[in-house]
Amino acid sequence: MSTEPLSIPKIYEDAADFMPIMGTDYIEFYVGNSKQAAHYYQSAWGYQPLAYAGMETGLKDRESYVLIQDKIRLVLTSPLHSGTEIGRHIDKHGDGVKVTALWVPDATKAYNEAISRGATSYMEPRVEEDADGKVVKSGIEIYGETVHVFIERDDYNGIFLPGYKKWDPLYKPEGIGLKYVDHMVGNVELGQMDEWVEFYKEVLGFSQILSFDDKDISTEYTALMSKVMSNGNGRIKFPINEPANGIKKSQIEEYIEFYEGAGVQHIAVATDNIVETVTQLRDRGVEFLRVPDTYYDVLLERVGEIDEDIEPLKELGILVDRDDEGYLLQLFTRPVEPRPTLFFEIIQRKGATSFGKGNFKALFEAIEREQEIRGTL
Ligand code: FE2
Repeated sequence: MSTEPLSIPKIYEDAADFMPIMGTDYIEFYVGNSKQAAHYYQSAWGYQPLAYAGMETGLKDRESYVLIQDKIRLVLTSPLHSGTEIGRHIDKHGDGVKVTALWVPDATKAYNEAISRGATSYMEPRVEEDADGKVVKSGIEIYGETVHVFIERDDYNGIFLPGYKKWDPLYKPEGIGLKYVDHMVGNVELGQMDEWVEFYKEVLGFSQILSFDDKDISTEYTALMSKVMSNGNGRIKFPINEPANGIKKSQIEEYIEFYEGAGVQHIAVATDNIVETVTQLRDRGVEFLRVPDTYYDVLLERVGEIDEDIEPLKELGILVDRDDEGYLLQLFTRPVEPRPTLFFEIIQRKGATSFGKGNFKALFEAIEREQEIRGTL
């Protein structure tokens, strides 16, 4: 099975091409303790040490560890003293995603196109250089206090970005088969989803490829609405959720209350062997949402024949869904921060290009059971 991001379905061809994006360059988290977070993503998730910037490289205000697994790069950044923007961000939101960096051929053009179409500037185009070459960076604001940074790196041969040095500790647990970022989901406030859909269409030339409303995604208590935006080549997919009216508080409202605003809800990372990947994650202490065992009683009736044996899927709690193009296997972690905010999805695609709509109800009921325990339902 290919490790490349999905090929380009015809549906994406009407996306405007003024904003070519080659892929996700990195995802940067602002965290309270970058050193310990790096250890977690190494030991539990199998990310490999890549680069470091901090006091040893002359920085006075922050420290960052960069980890890599195949095409996925995570940057974990903490402040070195009080009164910093990073510290303020962590105080307000808890640990969370600040930057989704997009790899572009021309970061100045990307910035100018986005700004001329109405984006708010986060970082004007700037050139950063060291002995390994140069990188051009620029950035725009998106929902909440989250940002996109455009990275142009054709003329750079260094380990990560200028200012970083190789990070090569003795401790290097094996990877677990994570390949690339499949999609990244944002939660926005009630009534804001369509504004951000328009933003991605107008400012970044994305197309809407799917939508779900409260008839698709609702349980006895809660509901949400979601629209999925994709860039021209299909490598970047950003579903955007907003709460819908339910009897009790939806998981999206819970997120927004605890994150204190809109932000990144989950990052889906792809694997070619979900049974192996999830077995490793579970053995290393990552906790997943569980659906009831009865989910598996009617699974094959619902999705038809699949290559995998049911028993290991049931044992690990892996979910399956089918669309017109094939099927997918997926599983969601519990939140990975103290607040019920950010979580991860593990996904293996076997032809399917959708997002697991058939699992939403079972999943939401699993989330509600956890909300009930938290007292936030
Ligand atoms: Fe997802």
